[in-house]
Parts: sequence; C-alpha cells; structure tokens
Amino acid sequence: MKVGVPKERREGESRVAVSPATIKKLIELGFDVTVETGAGEDASFSDDVFSGAGATIADSAAAAVGDADLVLKVRAPMSAANGADEISQINPKAMVVAHMSALSEPGAIETMAAAGLTGFAMDLMPRITRAQSMDVLSSQSNLAGYKSVLDAAGELGRAFPMMMTAAGTIAPAKVFIMGVGVAGLQAIATAKRLGAVVTATDVRPATKEQVESLGGKFLEVDAEMEKDAQTKGGYAKEMPPEYFEKQKQVVAEHIKKQDVVITTALIPGRPAPVLINDDMVASMPDGAVIVDLATEAGGNCTLSEPGKVVKKSGVTIIGHANMPGRLAEDASSLYAKNLINFLTPLVDAETKQMTIDWEDEIIQGTLVCKDGSVVHPALSKGD
Ligand code: NAI
Repeated sequence: MKVGVPKERREGESRVAVSPATIKKLIELGFDVTVETGAGEDASFSDDVFSGAGATIADSAAAAVGDADLVLKVRAPMSAANGADEISQINPKAMVVAHMSALSEPGAIETMAAAGLTGFAMDLMPRITRAQSMDVLSSQSNLAGYKSVLDAAGELGRAFPMMMTAAGTIAPAKVFIMGVGVAGLQAIATAKRLGAVVTATDVRPATKEQVESLGGKFLEVDAEMEKDAQTKGGYAKEMPPEYFEKQKQVVAEHIKKQDVVITTALIPGRPAPVLINDDMVASMPDGAVIVDLATEAGGNCTLSEPGKVVKKSGVTIIGHANMPGRLAEDASSLYAKNLINFLTPLVDAETKQMTIDWEDEIIQGTLVCKDGSVVHPALSKGD
C-alpha cells in the first residue's frame, strides 16, 4: 500500500502532513511512503530528512499521489476552480485524509466526491475519549494559543512581567482572553508564565474553574444564561441576542483597562461571534494589542483583517490566518501524529492491509465522501 504526501499548495500553508517520526511509523505499519520534493521545507523538514526516515522523494505532486492508496494532506485538496488542480492528480481510488474545514468549505468535499475519492475530514473528529489523540483541532489550537501571546508580546511596547528596577517599577501587563477552549487555555497559561495579570471569559460555565486553576480571574457575563451554553460535544452554542447585549456591556467596561486582548471564540459551522466592536477598540489604551484568532471564521473583532496586522485608533490588531502554521515544525509534527493515531487502528497488523469498520463512531464521524457522494450527515443538502 502506498501513501502519497504532496506539498501543500494553499497560500500561506507552511505545514506538512508527515514528520520523520510518522514516516517511520507508516513504514512499520506496512506502507510505502512517497513525499513530493520540498513538501517539508517550510516546516524545517528537508527532503534528506524525509528520505533518511525512509520516504521516497517524488519530483512532482502527481508523482507522489497519482498511484497512492492513501493521500495525507494538511488542507483539503484544491480544485482548478480555486487555483491549483490537486484533486485530478490524485488516484481516484485513493482515500484522502486532511483537515478539510468541512463545515465552512463544503464545496471542496463535493468536488472530491465527484472525483470518486474517499475523504476523511479530521476536523470532524468526534470529541470522545478514544479520539483525543486524533484531535487535530486541539493539537493545532494549543499551538495557536501559545503563539498568539508571543505575537502580542512582540507588538506591545511594554513588558509582560512586573519589573522592579533601579530606574523604577513597571506594572505587569493586563491580558484578557475571550474564549477559553483549547487555544484560550494555552493563551492563559502562556501569558501567566510571562508574568501578566490575566482575566478570561467564556459562555461555557465549566471554563470558570479552568481559568482559576491556571491563575487567571474569570469575568462572568450572565451565569443564568450560560447554564445551557454547551453542546453535548463540548462546543459552545450560539447565544441569544440578549446575551450578546449583556456581554457587550461587561466587556466594554473591562476592555478599557487591558493592554492585550486575545480572542479565540468559535462556534462550529457558524460565523465567529463578534465580541469586540469599533467603539471598544477605540476605548483601549494607546499601544494596546488585540490578537484575533478567529479571522478565518469571520473574526471576533470588527476591525481585524484576515492575514494582516493593522493599526486602528492606536491599537495594533493582529489577524494572522493559520496561526498554527507560524509554528510549522511543531504544528506539522503534532498534526502528523494525530493522523498516525487515526490510521493505526485501520491497519490489520497481520495482513498489513487497511480494514475499515464503516460502522465505527470515529469513521462515521469523519467520513465525508465515498463512492461518488457526500455522505456526512452534517454536509447533506438542506442541513
Ligand atoms: P472552539 O475552538 O470551538 O471555541 C473556542 C472557545 O470559544 C470555546 O471555549 C467556546 O465556548 C468559546 N465561545 C464561543 N462563543 C463565545 C462567545 N460568544 N463568548 C465567549 N466565548 C465563546 O472550542 P475548542 O477549543 O475546540 O474546545 C471546546 C471544548 O471541547 C473544550 O471544553 C475542550 O476542553 C473540549 N475538548 C474535548 C476534547 C475531547 O474530549 N476529545 C478534545 C478537545 C477539546
């Protein structure tokens, strides 16, 4: 069985779907691994490192994936309509595993289905204990949360920790984290390690204790309305307009005194909630920094621009797209490990062939297209 790994072609995508460690593991599982030349370059993995781990280096994407049984990618393969025809290069009998942004970009999956490919979207991984080691949203968000704090510290004209020096005392920076999921928790931990005074808020009540256990202070909006804010899958629900009104008042007052605000709030399959409006930005101290981690989902701040760092009303607003890609080596290594954890149970140890239990919860949760059709219930027409 052959695994093909092409270089990612989406603009700004620096990650790769294998690491030297996972190439070795794939070979142990019985696969031959072919990687397109330069695929790991932006993640600090050279062709030599990949071939040293046992991969064959192909001189084009078509040579890497044209006869592959399994194609591993970071992002969904593109079609000619969005700039690079990756789909038609792939063996139509292949299985493709990638982070497909399935709920926000269903078109890519329809094109894959039409090409006959079998697709698994890692971003739809069920949040069950057995799948924790396969959860790409967690592995990538954790790094994004960390990097967002470093980016903010890089832009802020002040230090994070309190410093008592002969020339005077510097007060610690005030950092406010909005959205306490995986990225937000890591942002709290990182900002605390740097010595900031950290506050945080979320709609899910369970996060209060988590914030406090990391040494942060929780900013409560409305405990009553938050009681029912979490889905069974652990995600946030879309909140009613009354909640947003209340949140706006509480946040507007708090944000005036913050040096750094990091927003991470997302609702699966919906646009990101707007948490910071123009007036709130204008009310912040000159030199303050906002990092909006939700720009790819529409943004939590009305003034952030995807992929850009902009200055509005004296406030620097960082809107980098693909924050995990700014730590491409670690992000690739963890992502690649998530893929191995997903694939290992699918390979029969004796025969070294893939044997898929189509009834399994993890398979059903991630399978998006098969036999020419889009099959995931969340992607069916009319859903
Ligand atoms: P996410 O990336 O979908 O959202 C980030 C955060 O934004 C969430 O905490 C959400 O509650 C918050 N949010 C949404 N709307 C908001 C609003 N209007 N105002 C303020 N905050 C808002 O979430 P993520 O990071 O993927 O994790 C969600 C939960 O899933 C966490 O409790 C996490 O511990 C859990 N989880 C469970 C896993 C498992 O059991 N396998 C794996 C990973 C995470």
